[in-house]
Amino acid sequence: MTVHTILKMGEPRLLRQAEPVTQFDTPELHALIADMRETMHAAGGVGLAAPQIGVNLQLVIFGFQQSERYPDAPPVPETILINPVLTPLADDKEDGWEGCLSVPGLRGMVPRWTKLRYVGVDQYGKAIEREVDDFHARVVQHECDHLAGVLYPMRMTDLSRLGYIDVLFPDMDPAADD
Ligand code: NI
Repeated sequence: MTVHTILKMGEPRLLRQAEPVTQFDTPELHALIADMRETMHAAGGVGLAAPQIGVNLQLVIFGFQQSERYPDAPPVPETILINPVLTPLADDKEDGWEGCLSVPGLRGMVPRWTKLRYVGVDQYGKAIEREVDDFHARVVQHECDHLAGVLYPMRMTDLSRLGYIDVLFPDMDPAADD
């Protein structure tokens, strides 16, 4: 397994539309997922999309029991989600703070659907279908945006609410400040 360099905002490869995964349960796919897991955990993230390590496939991983980066967030089940399709189930979006391993050191206030359904498959090609809300819904929207070349600042409606983590949250553990 390898910890990969996470591409940072400004890198054109983060702005591409990702390609669907067509082959499942292959050694290559399992190795890619293992590398993504290791890379995400090394960075202390709650999610990672394949394009963030330069792999242009519709594959995201997310989930945690307890996050240093988001200490107040409820647990989200560890999930491997491939070729996802999201359908909003809420009338409104809600603002919440987000960070991104590709936008280190910053947080921004981002409007997201509060409830949605997501469908896709896992690494074996087995169907996944879930209805989720709140932070789980936010994480899925954030990660799946990476598959469409969208970074969270591109979703912000008020850029005065983009700032450095150590300024916005001076009490946060510096270890969680990437
Ligand atoms: Ni991100």
